[in-house]
Amino acid sequence: MRSLIDILDLNTDEISQLIDKANDIIANPAKYCEKCKGKKLATLFFEPSTRTRLSFEAAMYELGGNVLGFSAAQNSSAAKGESVADTAKTTSCYADIIAMRHPKEGAPLVAAMNSSVPVINAGDGGHNHPTQTLTDLLTIYREKGRLDNLTVGFCGDLKFGRTVHSLISALSRYQNIKFVLVSPEELKLPSYVKDVLKAKNLEFVQTTDLDSVMPELDILYMTRVQRERFFNEEDYLRLKDSYILYTERLINAKSDLAIMHPLPRVNEISVAIDEDPRACYFKQVLNGKFIRMALILMLLEVE
Ligand code: NCD
Repeated sequence: MRSLIDILDLNTDEISQLIDKANDIIANPAKYCEKCKGKKLATLFFEPSTRTRLSFEAAMYELGGNVLGFSAAQNSSAAKGESVADTAKTTSCYADIIAMRHPKEGAPLVAAMNSSVPVINAGDGGHNHPTQTLTDLLTIYREKGRLDNLTVGFCGDLKFGRTVHSLISALSRYQNIKFVLVSPEELKLPSYVKDVLKAKNLEFVQTTDLDSVMPELDILYMTRVQRERFFNEEDYLRLKDSYILYTERLINAKSDLAIMHPLPRVNEISVAIDEDPRACYFKQVLNGKFIRMALILMLLEVE
C-alpha cells in the first residue's frame, strides 16, 4: 500500500505514467467511468479549498466511486480535540483512500503512518502540495510537449507557497531547467528548498524584478501571497500587491509563454489576461481532475 505525501514519493517514470494515463482519460473518458465502482474516497479538509477538494471528489465520481468527508475542521471531531492519528485510523475503517489537507506541516504524513488505506497529501501548511504539482506537470507537458529544457519563473510568495516548493522539487529531476525566483526579500524561497537546487548544482537566479526577467521565461508561475501564514496583518498588507501581472507587462514576454497560477487568484493577475492565449490557469483547474483520476487508479492499484 502506497501513499503520496511528497512529490518525490513518485519517481519520474511513475510521473510519466500518470501523465500518460491522464491524457488517455481525457481522450477516452468512457473507458474509466466504472473503474472505481464500489470504492470510497474520504476528503478530510481541515483548511479551506475549492479546486483541490472538488477536483478530488469529481475525479472519484467520474471513476464510478463515491465520496465522503468534511470540508472544515470545525465540522469534525478535531474540534473536540481528536488527534490526526485517531482521525486517520477512524477514516480507514470507512474509506478505501483518503485525501487530507491540514494547516500543520506533516499532518498527512502522520495520517499515513496511522492509516490502513492510502493517504494523499492535499496540502500541508506552507510545506508541500504534491497533487497540485502533478496538475502543474500535466499542464506543462500538454502546453510545451516536454518537462525539460525550460526556463521557469516563480513569482510572488515563494516562502509560504507550498505549490512552489513541491513544483521546484519535482522539476529539479528534469534536464536543463533554469529556475528564476522572483519575490520580495521577505518572501524568498526557504533555504530547505534552495538547498535541493544547490546540492544538484542547478541553475537558479533570485531577483525582486519581474520585468527584467520576463523575456527569458517559458513558464511564469504566479502565486498568491499566503495571508493565512503571516504572523501579522500589517506585513501581509504591505506585501500583498508586490507583483500584479497586467497586460502591458507581457509586452516583452515570449509569444509562447505559459502563464500558470495554482489559484485562487486574489489580485496577482489582471482579469484582462484571462483572454490571452498564454493564460493556462483555468486549463490547470481542469487538468487537476484528470491527473487526480490517474493518481487514484494508481494508488488503488486498479488496472
Ligand atoms: C493552492 C494551495 O492551497 O496551496 N491552491 C490550490 O490548491 N490550488 C494555492 C493557494 O492557496 O494560494
